[in-house]
Amino acid sequence: MTYIERMHNKMKVLRTKKTVRILAIESSCDDTGVAIVQNGRQVLSNVLSSQIDIHTRFGGVVPEIASRNHIMAIMPLVDKALKDAHLTLQDIDAIGVTQGAGLVGSLLVGLTTAKALSFALDIPLIACNHIKGHICANYLTYQDLTPPFGCLVVSGGHTAVVGVTDYTHLKLFGTTIDDAIGESFDKVARVVGLGYPGGPKIDQISKGIVPKIQFVHHTALKDSPNFSFSGLKTAVINYVHNETTKGNTLDIPQICASFQAEAVSMVVTKAIKLCLVNNLSTLCVAGGVSANSYLRNQLTLAGQENGIKVLFPESKYCTDNGAMIGSYAYYLMLSGDCSTLDIPALPNIPLE
Ligand code: KG4
Ligand code: ZN
Repeated sequence: MTYIERMHNKMKVLRTKKTVRILAIESSCDDTGVAIVQNGRQVLSNVLSSQIDIHTRFGGVVPEIASRNHIMAIMPLVDKALKDAHLTLQDIDAIGVTQGAGLVGSLLVGLTTAKALSFALDIPLIACNHIKGHICANYLTYQDLTPPFGCLVVSGGHTAVVGVTDYTHLKLFGTTIDDAIGESFDKVARVVGLGYPGGPKIDQISKGIVPKIQFVHHTALKDSPNFSFSGLKTAVINYVHNETTKGNTLDIPQICASFQAEAVSMVVTKAIKLCLVNNLSTLCVAGGVSANSYLRNQLTLAGQENGIKVLFPESKYCTDNGAMIGSYAYYLMLSGDCSTLDIPALPNIPLE
């Protein structure tokens, strides 16, 4: 029997098993994450190795350096995840891994490790879409949450509102036509000299500041379900440039708070509207920007005003982590097939 025939048989057995433990690997960008998740909801361990200190001096993620550091981090993290869960590799039923989207070199490290573990242990390999993994972070926080629901996806590479129709499928309602919201946070932070990673720094420095600057940008998409962040980003860059040219001192907390308020208001308005239009009474949020405290406040308020229940993952599951992949891999196991050992990394895998 070939490897894949054996794996298909094992998947059938797994679907009938009461307790399924998946070891999941996430290495799409600069964080290496490994987790062990039971039945898609229970996190037995979740360990992470961050490369923030390494990339800070370059002002952003350097792909080649990221992949080299994933190589060094990954096997010690697998060992730590097993140790934290008081398990051995023999207790693992399947391997989940991020196949895309992300940086190709970074993805390849996780994917190759996952393939090697699957082959050596003779257990199924389950390839996961990173963004669908982010959405599943909500299942880890809300044990009773079940589809359908709406989801606002706000990460470094994606901005979208989707309808989550079941555990593995979604319907795209609206997406960005240019920059992602996280990307614009990072860019603005760089322009005002806050450095990398920009999102959390803007969040922090804006706390308690009443936004006053109106950044003039294109609002052509006001009535469209789609987003654009490039105009807002450029408006902030122009403002900083003009003030500096005039010799004025920059009020950095005010610039950050005003940018954040505008960016957040754009996603809040559209996410709520798309939920109402599509009759969805629950809205989850997914991706790194879901950690933003201002977004959390504003969206919760807008939800209350419009009769929509708004849910955010716990902070530790907002940014990249292995546990969300472990959850998604479980639902793929229940609904679909496993992967072959020759699957490629998919840096631009589509959302739908
Ligand atoms: O989901 P994620 O960890 O990686 C991607 O899949 O892209 O998201 C990373 C993005 C970065 O742009 C980062 O600046 C942003 O999430 N981010 C935040 C916050 N924490 C992370 N943006 C705003 N406020 C935060 N607190
Ligand atoms: Zn992510």
